[in-house]
Amino acid sequence: MPATALRSEAERGNEPDAFWMPFTPMRAFRQDPILFDRAEGMHYITPEGRRVLDGMAGLWCVNAGHAQQHIVEAIREAAGRLDFVSSFKMSHPAAQAYAARLCDFAPEGLDHVFFVNSGSEAVDTALKIARAYHHARGDARRTKLIGRAKGYHGMGFGGLSVAGLGRQKRGFGPLLPEVAHLPLPYDAGLAFSLGQPERGAAYAEDLEKLLDVHDPLSVAAVIVEPVIGSGGVYPPPKGYLERLRAICDKHGILLIFDEVITGFGRLGAPFAAQALGVTPDIITCAKGMTNGSVPMGGVIVSGDVYGAFMAGPPDVIELFHGYTYSAHPLACAAGLATLDVFAEQGIIAQAKASSVTWQARAHQLKGAPHVADIRTLGLLCAIELSPKPGAAGTRGAAGAKACLDAGVLVRGSGDTIVLSPPLIISQSEIDEVFGVIEGALATLD
Ligand SMILES: Cc1ncc(COP(=O)(O)O)c(C=O)c1O
Repeated sequence: MPATALRSEAERGNEPDAFWMPFTPMRAFRQDPILFDRAEGMHYITPEGRRVLDGMAGLWCVNAGHAQQHIVEAIREAAGRLDFVSSFKMSHPAAQAYAARLCDFAPEGLDHVFFVNSGSEAVDTALKIARAYHHARGDARRTKLIGRAKGYHGMGFGGLSVAGLGRQKRGFGPLLPEVAHLPLPYDAGLAFSLGQPERGAAYAEDLEKLLDVHDPLSVAAVIVEPVIGSGGVYPPPKGYLERLRAICDKHGILLIFDEVITGFGRLGAPFAAQALGVTPDIITCAKGMTNGSVPMGGVIVSGDVYGAFMAGPPDVIELFHGYTYSAHPLACAAGLATLDVFAEQGIIAQAKASSVTWQARAHQLKGAPHVADIRTLGLLCAIELSPKPGAAGTRGAAGAKACLDAGVLVRGSGDTIVLSPPLIISQSEIDEVFGVIEGALATLD
């Protein structure tokens, strides 16, 4: 057993697999565990002191880089001052301040935020708000939800229902009824497009086709990730999101952008909505909000959505929903400090500038062994590999393992290598990431 922490766990006499880990093949992990003990800037550090360049910003979340001192200090200070206060019918100053600053950071017109603790909770909250919005306006017919193929919206029953990754639903049904899905706006002709594909806006017309099947008056909301993330980094074709927006408007359907990955600078703007110039009615966010340091999520809604709930008697709870840890003091402190760091260190401008080199360098891997497609936008990248004959879906993990052995953390998902580095990545680190991947691809059979 190579890792110190696992050895000491065994010495304590604990069950060696006491921690049932998320999305992890437990028995394989115990054979070959990966442990990180510390992190700073662009790097993780193993218990043995080996430095690993983080090509994933943790899990799409540590956007300003690890161990940002201002965030660390803010959490320490908050923990010593106010450990917890409920947000049910009471609050604390940092929650009020953070809500205001977050809404300033969000696209114009999205002025109110409901705090939760994760992306999954954000999505389920947004779906409930969408249904309850129509209900509050006297239109209780609108209950259907439309998601999209390859969409990932977390692990709650709502998010899983609108998601478009079939394997993740196996064994958990029945999921929500009243759900339909748009197809992926992608075809082989869009392979290797750098940034948003020029062609493909017409895929948005599939929404009209779905509405021919499902009475548009029965639909509450359409939910999409502006750029499909976990499903394999699929940027939206130019004009596609604009067209989804127009069709939703035409039919009185709410448009939800799940920005759990694309929020907080990933595309060189606060949210994808600003980067791509399309404003939804509701944004879900999480991950980058606290730079990954404290669990937190948010649902940011338009004045129209919020206003629909505020029409009744003022002493009645408008939304029967919430979580014990909504607006937790440590999370709010970390969120405020993260916005400070973004502003003081110009994190978004850095992301915008380095995404040019990032994307160009990524596309230099065209022609490398096994590479079937490369998709990039902002500081995101997917390198799709052709499936290994007889072992489809294994090349991503094999590639990720080879990269880790060479000192770079990337994510292997099926046959795809996915990248989402901290936004502070330097030019030489960009070269290192893609150089290591190139070397790793050459070793794959
Ligand atoms: C787009 C999107 N939505 C929701 C989630 C779920 O977030 P969490 O894992 O914090 O529940 C994720 C997580 O990766 C995500 O990428």
